[in-house]
Amino acid sequence: MDDFPLQGGVIHCEDVPLPLIAREVRTPVYVYSTAAMQRQARVLQSALAPLDNPLIAYAIKANPNPAVLATLRAEGLGADVVSGGEYRRARAAGIAAEKIVFSGVGKTAAEMALALEGGLCQFNLESVPEAEMLSGVAFSMGRQAPVALRVNPDVEAGSHAKISTGAAHNKFGIPIADALGACARVRELPGLRFMGVAVHIGSQLTSLAPLEAAFEKLDALIGELRAAGHDVRTADLGGGLGVAYDPAAPPPPDPADYGAMVARVTRGWGVRLIFEPGRVIVGNAGVLLTEIIRIKPGGAHPFVIVDAAMNDLMRPSIYDAWHAIDAVVPNSERMIADIVGPVCETGDTFARGRDIDRVEAGELLIIRTAGAYAATMGSTYNSRPLAPEVLVNGKEWAIVRERQDVKALMRGGELPAWFASAR
Ligand code: LLP
Repeated sequence: MDDFPLQGGVIHCEDVPLPLIAREVRTPVYVYSTAAMQRQARVLQSALAPLDNPLIAYAIKANPNPAVLATLRAEGLGADVVSGGEYRRARAAGIAAEKIVFSGVGKTAAEMALALEGGLCQFNLESVPEAEMLSGVAFSMGRQAPVALRVNPDVEAGSHAKISTGAAHNKFGIPIADALGACARVRELPGLRFMGVAVHIGSQLTSLAPLEAAFEKLDALIGELRAAGHDVRTADLGGGLGVAYDPAAPPPPDPADYGAMVARVTRGWGVRLIFEPGRVIVGNAGVLLTEIIRIKPGGAHPFVIVDAAMNDLMRPSIYDAWHAIDAVVPNSERMIADIVGPVCETGDTFARGRDIDRVEAGELLIIRTAGAYAATMGSTYNSRPLAPEVLVNGKEWAIVRERQDVKALMRGGELPAWFASAR
């Protein structure tokens, strides 16, 4: 199913022609497909259906737009949050407290108190000092915080170095060899209730092998914990399933194969399994729609200068990520071009030497796979307003975040009093 189909020579999102959105909302604008998100949520649910009552906690960081969260809540998903802001967004979207997992390597006392007050499924703890702080916060509130230990399994995820998290030198998790001792400490702390274990080895994983290796290590750990008398009730297997950015590249793992692998490795664990998928749910449900400002002759290739920039989609500049780029009204002619934004950095380049449809100034392009880690990582660098977001649902569409208002952009700064006195 293509949620961005070419109909009558024009790319649509579901039933809405993209030029219509560009005309009404202006560009750059992110456009999301409801059908794509629903389908991916259901694909994952059916892949994990053979498991006993799994909790699928959508990793909000991938795309925290309230309309996206409402769409996924309606599909029954919970939330994986990593900050007080994400916790608030999950609750505001109506996601039940018992479906929220709180991850993150540097939770503050205020964030802990917020989630304890509102309730949650569990905190995934990253260290003993964090356990001690959380126990203190919970105890002072007269509560017990449900906790799992996120372990670092020392597995190379095989993804980009900046988004791999499961190797010993990464900042995440408790070294797996220390987990037994950490568990004993957790059990001593009066403000904590030990629930289980967690692991997340990285993002945009294109092979199941490192995931399986990590889950095998968790299998051994669960055995050791139980042998030491600890009751293990949950196992959080994290997120990380990759999506197809380049249709010509080998396809990423099929969620059904992932589900079968999990079922095989976790057989007999007797725990509630938790998952934290982000990108696989929303990645290919969104595009960044942009207009060509002008075409500038270049040394090797012409530069196609578009009105989106690295502040709207950072992935190419920080991870050298490859995103498919297509003309919204393609013709049969081709050209080789560098596709760049207007920001004053060479890194503000979406594609180099790319074979694309022959395009001209004023025409529209889409940068695909911009549903995850795009708007959410946006900034106002070069004093560019945050771009709006549109959600499409069949023939209907709505602006689900307005373009940042210029006044709001200008408000981000105050003059100190001494400038007034100098007048
Ligand atoms: N759980 C934890 C603890 C995580 O840190 C992450 C992602 C996820 C779940 C969701 O992973 P996913 O299923 O989306 O792969 N900005 C980067 C990706 C950073 C991912 C950070 N953690 C990018 O644009 O590729």
